[in-house]
Amino acid sequence: SGQQRRYVIGVSQCSDDEWREQMNKEITREALFYPEAEVVFRSAGDDNKRQIHDIELLMRNKVDLLVVSPNEADAITPVIEKAYSKGIPVILVDRKIHSNQYTAYIGADNYTIGYNVGEYIASRLQGKGRVVEVTGLRGSTPAAERHRGMTDALREYPDIRVTASVDAGWRRDRARLVFDSLLTHAPEIDMVFAHNDRMAAGAYEAAVKYGREKEMLFVGIDALAGEGYGVEQVASGQLDATFIYPTGGDRVMQTAMAILTGKPYEHDVALSSALVNKGNARVMRMQTGQIRQLDEKIDMLDKRINHFLTRYASQRILLYTCVVM
Ligand code: FRU
Repeated sequence: SGQQRRYVIGVSQCSDDEWREQMNKEITREALFYPEAEVVFRSAGDDNKRQIHDIELLMRNKVDLLVVSPNEADAITPVIEKAYSKGIPVILVDRKIHSNQYTAYIGADNYTIGYNVGEYIASRLQGKGRVVEVTGLRGSTPAAERHRGMTDALREYPDIRVTASVDAGWRRDRARLVFDSLLTHAPEIDMVFAHNDRMAAGAYEAAVKYGREKEMLFVGIDALAGEGYGVEQVASGQLDATFIYPTGGDRVMQTAMAILTGKPYEHDVALSSALVNKGNARVMRMQTGQIRQLDEKIDMLDKRINHFLTRYASQRILLYTCVVM
């Protein structure tokens, strides 16, 4: 359309997976309400160098604002400080850096989620048992915070032992591999805490291979709706529980526009979490199913509006040519 795009927002995601996809979709959807803004997305495939390159590129292309989910805090801190010192506002989402040189942060409290997982484990194991932790990428802040939260909660329960803690870098395939080798020399495991549902699914797959999936309970984080994701895994009993880790893409877009247009915004937007277990997974599935249908309708309406607008524009040209001739 002939709308003038006054603002360009650059989004640099550290990975691409269903969770990131959902956030990007929410951002794109929310951007429909701001025709003066354009959003461009980059995805770094869990690679620090690539993400630094992406951010440099967005800066060279003169984006007005950066949204960044930093792959690993140490590696990504300098480039963000550089952008910020050039006067480009930076919104951090979900993962943090080791600096206060940023404009706003949006995400859930990963320490508290980890702590709640620890309490959940303790209550499910009735204060006694062996736990294996499959962590996200160690250099990313959610992995460090989730680990610290769980460890602090379990301090109160001396008979619960974390027998292994392995890094699977947020990835399903890696979780399957590391858990496979763990299973071959860990005789007893009562509970597996994976830092996200995707890695829980990978670990589960390895346990199935040895026919051992019933010996232990699996807990994850994210609770995405949709086929094969967290909520369904809980409903089917594959996961014992998961914790919602909201993607918050709409809040990201709203905050970006508030910053760009000089309106008030929150420096720290705390998104909330909640436990999903057998007791509420079915209800959640029903509701998210309905939400998905509404989402599809909104997409359809947007396409139709665009279609009408293009038709309207070409009819105007036609009309104009007729009048002139
Ligand atoms: C998505 C993801 C989520 C996890 C989050 C942590 O890329 O791996 O599964 O909760 O990142 O930053």
